[in-house]
Amino acid sequence: MIFRYLIATLIFSTPLIAGPAGYNYDESKVPEYTLPDPLVMENGKKVEIAAAWKVRRDEILGLFEEHVYGKAPIGRPEKLRFVEGEKFDDFLGGKATLQHVRILLFGDENGPHLDLLVIAPKNVPEGGVPAFVALNFSGNHSVHSDKRIPIPDSWMRSSSDDKKAGYVKDNRAQEAGRGFKKNRWAVEKIIDSGMALATFYYGDVDPDFDDNFENGIHAVTGKPAAGEWGSIGSWAWGCSRALDYLETNDSVDAKKAAVFGHSRLGKTSLWAGATDQRFALSISNNSGCGGAALSRRHFGETVERINTSFPHWFCDNFVKYNENEGELPVDQHQLISLIAPRPVYIASAEGDEWADPKGEFLSALHADPVYRLTGTEGLAGAKEHPAVNTPVGGVIRYHVRTGKHDVTDYDWEQYIKAMKDLVVNKKDEIRAPGEAPTILR
Ligand code: GCU
Repeated sequence: MIFRYLIATLIFSTPLIAGPAGYNYDESKVPEYTLPDPLVMENGKKVEIAAAWKVRRDEILGLFEEHVYGKAPIGRPEKLRFVEGEKFDDFLGGKATLQHVRILLFGDENGPHLDLLVIAPKNVPEGGVPAFVALNFSGNHSVHSDKRIPIPDSWMRSSSDDKKAGYVKDNRAQEAGRGFKKNRWAVEKIIDSGMALATFYYGDVDPDFDDNFENGIHAVTGKPAAGEWGSIGSWAWGCSRALDYLETNDSVDAKKAAVFGHSRLGKTSLWAGATDQRFALSISNNSGCGGAALSRRHFGETVERINTSFPHWFCDNFVKYNENEGELPVDQHQLISLIAPRPVYIASAEGDEWADPKGEFLSALHADPVYRLTGTEGLAGAKEHPAVNTPVGGVIRYHVRTGKHDVTDYDWEQYIKAMKDLVVNKKDEIRAPGEAPTILR
């Protein structure tokens, strides 16, 4: 009896932390740190007017390229070509269209390609509808069970559960995986809100394993130098190529495109929003270390751990900051500042300590001065990490929801609302600071 009581006490008194043991999950153990000021130039000069932000922005972008994500060695390939499949108009009971588009990255049918699944409302107004450009983890066919969605032929990583269930076999997606991630995709809500979803499998651009950069896009561009892109940089580049296509699609208004990703793909969506200013909104869902979370906080995942577990994600220079975050010339609030003054949405989950929810909020908070200088209301006065399920902010929005590391309908409802407020109606976008020129987008 006593023994049982002891066991129960042990089980219930041990906090359930969602993250590997041996890392810091205790707020009181967060070290003292000083963040680089996004509004102070490398030469020490303060950026005081919006017009000067562009110069500082270039500087910060260069630092992220050199030290964190790596510079993309190529932009839009000259021979980029799109092959549109049939557009079915009976999707979701006839209220939406479904189309498969192959983006031939270098124009060659046998060369690297990215397959985009475009789901749009059937009746679109002149000029098209806003769209979410979203990276997916498990293939376009995993997003919805419609049999017409092609199964990717690219390399696919798989958890032991995915293998057991037959979703992935020998690192290739299988028919059995059709729709198996559909709970993460609020397709019908998006369509009912008059918006489109354009999604692609990130592994089409670069496989997510440490392959010494021999496959995917790196096989074409060569082994990256220490300051050149890793996989995250290449996935973000893929988002831009998806947007290149959407600019040609009449159902979509490509000027109203949000880039969305979860977890490692949330790190990617922030980098895509930072590097490609055509994205009108950037959404990071539970992106954590190397995404929205401040590296210097040392809460949950660390730079050393991420570089060790995923050596292919960042550029080689990032390794210099393993257990040495204080020396990083930037921190992740400056990644958010690169998106200013365009809207950004950062979302955390309460049970996702590994991603450091508070650190994700603090990035938003410390990017706020840049958003204000560039003529927006930024976080709209929010100063404290909010209570769960209470979104805060203006052009910078943030929420922490109950539950674990995941993408839920609740998250999508907030993103759809942000798209309506900030991209469609531009409701709380711009104030007019004395010296700001027209908005810098
Ligand atoms: C790991 C990794 C995270 C990442 C996550 C994911 O947990 O440590 O940094 O965000 O995988 O992408 O699922």
